Amino acid sequence: MQRNNLRKWSLLLGAVAIVALPMPSWAQLTKYDLESRMGVESHVGNITGHAKAAKADYRRYCVVCHGELGDGNGESFPWIDPKPRDFQLGVFKCRSTPTGTLPTDQDLFDTLARGLDRSNMPQWSTFTKQQRADLVAWVKHFSPRWTNEKPGTPITIPPEPEVTPERIKAGRDVFARVQCWKCHGVLGQANGPSAATLTDDLGRPIAAYNFTEGARPKCGDTDRDIYRIFMTGLDGTPMPSFADNIKPDEAWDLVFYLRTLMSQNSKEKAMAKQLGLKPVDPNAPAGQQ
Ligand code: HEC
Ligand code: HEC
Repeated sequence: MQRNNLRKWSLLLGAVAIVALPMPSWAQLTKYDLESRMGVESHVGNITGHAKAAKADYRRYCVVCHGELGDGNGESFPWIDPKPRDFQLGVFKCRSTPTGTLPTDQDLFDTLARGLDRSNMPQWSTFTKQQRADLVAWVKHFSPRWTNEKPGTPITIPPEPEVTPERIKAGRDVFARVQCWKCHGVLGQANGPSAATLTDDLGRPIAAYNFTEGARPKCGDTDRDIYRIFMTGLDGTPMPSFADNIKPDEAWDLVFYLRTLMSQNSKEKAMAKQLGLKPVDPNAPAGQQ
């Protein structure tokens, strides 16, 4: 059974690699190419963002990391880890859309307000909404993906059910079955058997998220955000999408279980304590957690 699981897992990884790998075959964009893409827009609610309106803000606030050509090669590049994102690739971590697809304008807009925890990417919550929408259009103008593709359709998230001890237990079984622990560790401490060797799509070492340290997940920390993170995956990283392996109702169970691993107090944590819930046992036969 264990072997069967492993096989399923490597098939899954294979599938992820295929979706995540179509790295751009186009050459690096030049300043001239970018000038011709200045008309790119973004649409967030009733706001229309214009790339050309963000030129000055980008130079002032973003260029030091993301670089003149948006390739992530700004002055700070050598000094920071994780590295600033290369916008020419058009690959984003925080999406409401399925793995391998472009994020929506709203996703990028929200990312700017939120910043990316555990990285040098700050929160930009002091900008006006118009400034942020303009910057979203500007970020998009760096990648021809937006000319050739439409953003993915956001995944459907069913309403959050009532948390119960049964659901928390069921969530632990999902955590065991789809082997989140291989990277995140059985206690969520980012020390699973695969953790030490993880690299992102550009071959840079990357750590799995440690649930126990109180750090905010990069793509938001509400229950819905956490649901979205493992059902869409963080593209460009080894954190895959589990949309094909976890049913929507089970996904909520898993969110509840993940809360029990986190350091913050929660009703899930209290319930798990009362249950005397044990961590998953990687060696237990399937179905006997
Ligand atoms: C001090 C460096 C720094 C500055 C300044 C900075 N960023 Fe970033 N940004 C980063 C880093 C580092 C990442 C990658 C973080 C990661 O992958 O965890 C990133 C990632 C991003 C992403 C990708 C998000 C995703 O979902 O993958 C966007 C979009 C972005 N930055 C936009 C901007 C904009 C717009 C500005 C200016 C208003 C800006 N950044 C300024 C460092 C910076
Ligand atoms: C192959 C290794 C791997 C597996 C398996 C894996 N993850 Fe991850 N996960 C990662 C890595 C690496 C990151 C950090 C990505 C980053 O920092 O950009 C991550 C990040 C996360 C985050 C935080 C994201 C954020 O926005 O900061 C959550 C939540 C998460 N994983 C949940 C899960 C769950 C739930 C499962 C199982 C259903 C799972 N992961 C399976 C590697 C993995």
